[in-house]
Amino acid sequence: MDYSIESRALDKTETDCVIVGIYTNRQFTPSATVIDNSTHQLISNLVERGDIKGKNSETLLINIVPDSHLQRVLLVGLGDADKISPKLYRKALAAAVKVIKTTSVTSVSCALAEVELKNADWEWKIRQIVEVFNDAVYQYSETKSIKPTAITLQKVEISAPEELKKQAQTGLAQGIAIAAAVDSTKLMADLPGNICTPTYLAHQAVKIADSFANMNVEILEESDMHKLGMGALLSVSRGSRQPAKLICLHYQGGAAQAKPIVLIGKGLTFDSGGVSLKAGAGMDEMKYDMCGGATVISVLQAAAQLALPLNIVGLVPSSENMPDGDANKPGDIVTSMSGKTIEVLNTDAEGRLLLCDTLTYAEKFHPDVVIDLATLTGACLIALGRVASGLLGNDDELCDALLHASETACDSVWRLPLWEEYQEQLKSNFADLANVGGRDAGTITAACFLSRFAEDYRWAHLDIAGTAWRTGSHKGATGRPVALLMQYLLNRAHG
Ligand code: BES
Ligand code: MN
Ligand code: ZN
Repeated sequence: MDYSIESRALDKTETDCVIVGIYTNRQFTPSATVIDNSTHQLISNLVERGDIKGKNSETLLINIVPDSHLQRVLLVGLGDADKISPKLYRKALAAAVKVIKTTSVTSVSCALAEVELKNADWEWKIRQIVEVFNDAVYQYSETKSIKPTAITLQKVEISAPEELKKQAQTGLAQGIAIAAAVDSTKLMADLPGNICTPTYLAHQAVKIADSFANMNVEILEESDMHKLGMGALLSVSRGSRQPAKLICLHYQGGAAQAKPIVLIGKGLTFDSGGVSLKAGAGMDEMKYDMCGGATVISVLQAAAQLALPLNIVGLVPSSENMPDGDANKPGDIVTSMSGKTIEVLNTDAEGRLLLCDTLTYAEKFHPDVVIDLATLTGACLIALGRVASGLLGNDDELCDALLHASETACDSVWRLPLWEEYQEQLKSNFADLANVGGRDAGTITAACFLSRFAEDYRWAHLDIAGTAWRTGSHKGATGRPVALLMQYLLNRAHG
């Protein structure tokens, strides 16, 4: 998709369709007024007739515009002018692109960045337009021999006044980088486990690192992990024929001495549960257990593309979790890189085994903060559904910064407590700690486990089990929480 900023008057556009907003109570956006005036009050007449009321996400496509050189006009309802929120704004954008997708339109002029929202500037609004449009036109076709019908839309011009061009271009560049990162996260995630293996993920990271001068990659092999004593991570990959990889991406956009932000993403390319085998129904979705890893790789790519003045380390421990003669058995005790011993009471709680050694490894970078993202617990789906990711951490300032970023990015997270009392549930009679804490508060006890390996730095954990992909007939990766992390990084870069 080609996204650009256009400052030309709307009624001079050469695109196939202009997209303008209208509110309830017969209120028009400035562009809707311009078009109304140049078309003998066409829009006013349609509103008068009751064809569109202006409710949020309501749409009306005008296919022919008499006595005008405009090809088409898409009216998009925004709701009450004083009630429009960031999420409602995005909802209206999604409704607009949904209609466009059903037409043969190849180019549009989108005049929705002028919509007035509290605390939202042109930069943010233009970024949202690119993000929402791009999300809607994503089509998975990689492993289909019969390709889905291509979407005809190829060009999105976003109207912005000449005097705001600089802000507009910044928002555009951010939107394009974030949208590309969302696309690549979705693609890696949607690919099946027999294609997207740890080796495949490592290869993607190498390709990205090769395309930026200030990005390096190091792939730790199992032999390297042995030398480091990563007994927890290796105990998981022992049950799989695919060799584990620990992908380490280094982006140096900041001052040489600046402490890095370390992002860690769970990269389980397939989680069968291991010997504690999962039930059959829906097990295919466990190919998505690498979404955290894909997000980290893609976020580093977007950060480099935007040349953010930060140092960022991306760590992706990647493996499969399979049942095998050599796999972990319930009751096995493994020794982590930190020296702590772990009783593997359930081999399906494998993510934390990979993450704990990676958290220990992260110490070597003297991180400013460490943020891990993982499809870690089914319990998170029970607690928060598919709306918000779970947020837990040992530092209020970091958690607040992530909450704040999530609101701006419309990529919701909700904080859960990490109180001392919950640690009780991880007691083991035979090792320093157990890898599961029972049914109660599963998301919290998983984070409690991780916290024991993140004691030496400021750390936050995002449980994305409910948000990284959609289930059912719209099954597919969402690309979350790319937008949240990018917002956090943008805030850090400007702050
Ligand atoms: N990858 C799963 C978590 C998961 C399950 C994410 C379903 C999304 C949907 C993780 O490795 C896992 O299996 N966790 C167990 C932990 C339990 C054994 C303590 C779970 O949630 O059941
Ligand atoms: Mn599991
Ligand atoms: Zn898992």
